Parts: sequence; structure tokens; C-alpha cells
Amino acid sequence: MIKGFVFDLDGVLTDTAEYHYLAWQELGGKMGIAFDRVFNEQLKGISRMDSLERILKYGNKSRAYTEDEKIALANEKNEDYKKLITNISPADLLPGISELLKELKAADIQLALASASKNGPIILKRLGIENLFDTIVDPACLTHGKPDPEIFIKGAEQLGLRPDECVGVEDAEAGIEAINAAGMFSVGVGSKESMKAADLFVTDTSELNVRDILTAAANWSH
Ligand code: BG6
Ligand code: MG
Repeated sequence: MIKGFVFDLDGVLTDTAEYHYLAWQELGGKMGIAFDRVFNEQLKGISRMDSLERILKYGNKSRAYTEDEKIALANEKNEDYKKLITNISPADLLPGISELLKELKAADIQLALASASKNGPIILKRLGIENLFDTIVDPACLTHGKPDPEIFIKGAEQLGLRPDECVGVEDAEAGIEAINAAGMFSVGVGSKESMKAADLFVTDTSELNVRDILTAAANWSH
């Protein structure tokens, strides 16, 4: 029986995935590395430093910077990103998310946040939904990032549940891989192509429906 939902943040609860993209593009421009939305799919769900490494590798510049310079570059991206998220408010919740979270709470389902973002707690606060979440996994405490299942296993653990008692919701390919590897029922938000590994997928958050998800998860054999 499903007793918990473990949510990704960026691109699932709010459209900050777009802000991450804009901030990385800005930095990429300064480093002489251009990339598009297709490449950006590979950055979704990936930690700040790992994202920078992927961009540098893509631009054949992995060795162009020292470790200290890389940290400075990642900080620069984050400062830019923080400016983009300054004015986030409850109006920035993606369509249907507010209703979905309230419906889950009303059904006594516990909620956890499993985001790779160190900006997660402040964003939840600005969105006005921090009180709906029972627990937040601290990405700084993780040994491995997505697609490793660690963050989702921790999310379930922090709720006092087994992974198979939880549903994971993601917009990143690496995130779906992580949920599946954790032994959780995976719900993907995105294109059919990028969400092909999800147990259930919707193209838009407005299509997320508690009854449909719980029915599909109950019939799921893993
Ligand atoms: C993930 C995003 O949720 O968090 C990635 O999908 C981002 O794009 C990662 O790089 C880390 O976020 P932050 O806010 O700690 O730089
Ligand atoms: Mg995401």
C-alpha cells in the first residue's frame, strides 16, 4: 500500500528547471561553450558540480580550469540562479501541484522532498508549501547523486517507510532511473521519449491525478 510520495523539485513542483538552464547557458556563454535544450536534458537532476563537469566535457574544456576555478564557476552560476529565484511565490507552483499536494495530505499520505538542489528548502518556503512536506533529504549528506537511488531510498527512510510503500515523482531521466533503482513506483513528467523508463508518465503536471497514480501503483508488479 502506498503511504508516501517522494518528490523531485525542479521541473516537478515549479519551473526552476528553466532557471537552471538559463543560468548554465549564461555561464556557458562566458566559457565559450554553447549548448541547447537537448543537451540540457542530461543536466536535469544532476548536482551543481557534476553539471559543470558535464558542460566542460561537452565543450572539450575539462582540463581548462583548476579545481578552485571550477568551484568559482559553479558559485557564479549559483549567484545568477539565486537572482532568478528571488521572486518565486506560490503563483509559481506548476499547474495542479497545489491541489495534488493537498489531496495527498488529506489522504494521509506523507510527503518527502528528494531534490539534488541545495536551494530546495528556500524554494519550498517561497512556494509556501514547506509545511506540507514531512521531510527533506539534505543533498549535502549524499554519497552518490541521481541516477543512484540513494536520495530516494533516504527519502523513504526519513518517512519511516519502505521504498515499495512510496511513489517517486520526477522530470529528469536520471531521476526516473534513480526511483526505479530504489524499488519505488516511478511517475514521470515530460515527453514520452524522455520519460520512457517511468512506470507512469504525464506530459504536464496538471494531468497528475492521485487516484490514477494510486491505482497504477497498486497494480504494479516489481
Ligand atoms: C537539481 C536540478 O534538482 O538540482 C539540477 O535538476 C541542478 O539542474 C541540481 O543542477 C543542483 O541544484 P543547486 O540549486 O544545488 O545548484
Ligand atoms: Mg527535476
